[in-house]
Amino acid sequence: MSGMLRNILILSCFRLFASDELRPPKEIQIISPIIGEVQLSWKPCVTNHSTYIIKYRINISSPELNQQYYTLHCESSTSLALHRGVHAEVATTWWNEESELFSSSSVSAELPPLPGDEGTAAKNLSCQIHTEKSLNISLTCNWTAGEMAPLDTEYYMYYRQYRKTEQCLDYVLERGGQRRVACHVPSSNINILIAYKEVVVLISGTSRSRKIQSIEHVYMIPDIEVLNPPWNVSFREENRNQILVWKKPYSLLSDICFQYEIQTLDLWKNTDKIETVSGTILVNGPLQETWKKHVLRVRAVLTSLCVDKVMYSAWTEPLHIDTVSSRMYILAACVCLIVAGLVFIYICLRFHICGQIFPPVPKPKNELKEIFLNDPHITGLTVNVSYVYLCVILFGVKMTFIEPQLTMRKKTTPAHCFSALIGLNV
Ligand SMILES: *[C@@H]1O[C@H](CO)[C@@H](O)[C@H](O)[C@H]1NC(C)=O
Ligand SMILES: *[C@@H]1O[C@H](CO)[C@@H](O)[C@H](O)[C@H]1NC(C)=O
Ligand SMILES: *[C@@H]1O[C@H](CO)[C@@H](O)[C@H](O)[C@H]1NC(C)=O
Ligand SMILES: *[C@@H]1O[C@H](CO)[C@@H](O)[C@H](O)[C@H]1NC(C)=O
Ligand SMILES: *[C@@H]1O[C@H](CO)[C@@H](O)[C@H](O)[C@H]1NC(C)=O
Ligand SMILES: *[C@@H]1O[C@H](CO)[C@@H](O)[C@H](O)[C@H]1NC(C)=O
Repeated sequence: MSGMLRNILILSCFRLFASDELRPPKEIQIISPIIGEVQLSWKPCVTNHSTYIIKYRINISSPELNQQYYTLHCESSTSLALHRGVHAEVATTWWNEESELFSSSSVSAELPPLPGDEGTAAKNLSCQIHTEKSLNISLTCNWTAGEMAPLDTEYYMYYRQYRKTEQCLDYVLERGGQRRVACHVPSSNINILIAYKEVVVLISGTSRSRKIQSIEHVYMIPDIEVLNPPWNVSFREENRNQILVWKKPYSLLSDICFQYEIQTLDLWKNTDKIETVSGTILVNGPLQETWKKHVLRVRAVLTSLCVDKVMYSAWTEPLHIDTVSSRMYILAACVCLIVAGLVFIYICLRFHICGQIFPPVPKPKNELKEIFLNDPHITGLTVNVSYVYLCVILFGVKMTFIEPQLTMRKKTTPAHCFSALIGLNV
């Protein structure tokens, strides 16, 4: 309450005694000394009052942008696209600590749109920043020719980092035409130390028959950075934990800007799942479902902490995890062999057919074939038994000679065994 009273008192005091200081600035000047920058200055420049702070409130607007901010100084500069003209207003304000007590009326100034014929300016300007492994960055912009731009129009691209403006040299022509519609600035021309924040792009043009309008755009670098995917994704097992690690994408942005999405595809159940983590590691502990036959991939997410709009990188190459080891297959095959062997011996003894199957000693395939196909005494049962026997042999041979686990897994199914058998005999 007392604060409010004090403020009212102060206001009255101002109105009575300090009216000079509360007037808006008189002479205001607006210029654009370099591309994409507006500089304002005004007079008289009122310094701090003994008790109260004087700040100037600045409103800058263009068809694309409205900005309002305060300054303690009597000049101000800001980056914005000014090809369609700029309107600026300055007012004097009085402050008591954190609160604005009073504001004068405002004084305004304008910059006209850049000259040139309507419809001749480049359109659909779009720029991208690519970050290389060395963390150097390159800039690529493209645009389309204005619909009123004559065929002899020659567009030029300029870019400004901090106060240094340069022309882009590496142009691309439109398909089947003469007009330039893209340009690439190599990383060697971009100083990442000063480019980090923003880059201003201007497309101007010349033609013999018309005056070509220019366009400008101010880009915040993180907003146009093409997000690289994470790299060096690798998998290891450690103390019953399964661990997936990867590296942060090549980017000028710091670690805190990134999150990661990990997609896990379970090939056995045919289900998939997406997890989000903030570090560059994902641990699948012993209490979680183990990755057995899974495909994993990772992508980076640039969070709203660092950019206006959340951005996603491409996915990394899928990483296949197959922890069902080849040893398990070998073990299973051995068990099969032993069981089959026992069954064979049992049947042999039970039906007294061993003598028939082992005449002297079956040698190569041709003789085996004869036993099966030509001996009229062999009954259906014995043929089956012989197939089992042959399979056991083939199985054993395969077990010994086939090393890669993938082939082995495929070829040791009973069905394959039989087809292999037929293949051998025919
Ligand atoms: C006015 O006062 C503020 C706050 O005390 C100070 O930061 C600022 O530098 C002063 N401005 C001038 C022009 O003296
Ligand atoms: C400045 O802009 C704000 C909105 O951005 C608006 O509310 C305010 O009235 C403007 N002030 C002046 C003096 O134009
Ligand atoms: C270019 O911008 C115009 C509007 O200014 C739009 O109609 C057109 O579809 C855009 N063309 C491309 C290729 O984006
Ligand atoms: C400019 O390049 C981007 C990215 O390669 C593309 O998506 C866009 O269509 C291009 N625009 C024009 C006008 O060619
Ligand atoms: C990175 O850029 C600097 C200049 O900004 C240049 O001297 C250097 O050769 C570049 N490095 C690579 C790997 O392109
Ligand atoms: C990639 O990851 C593996 C395993 O984590 C590591 O041994 C290797 O050094 C990494 N490579 C690079 C280039 O960092």
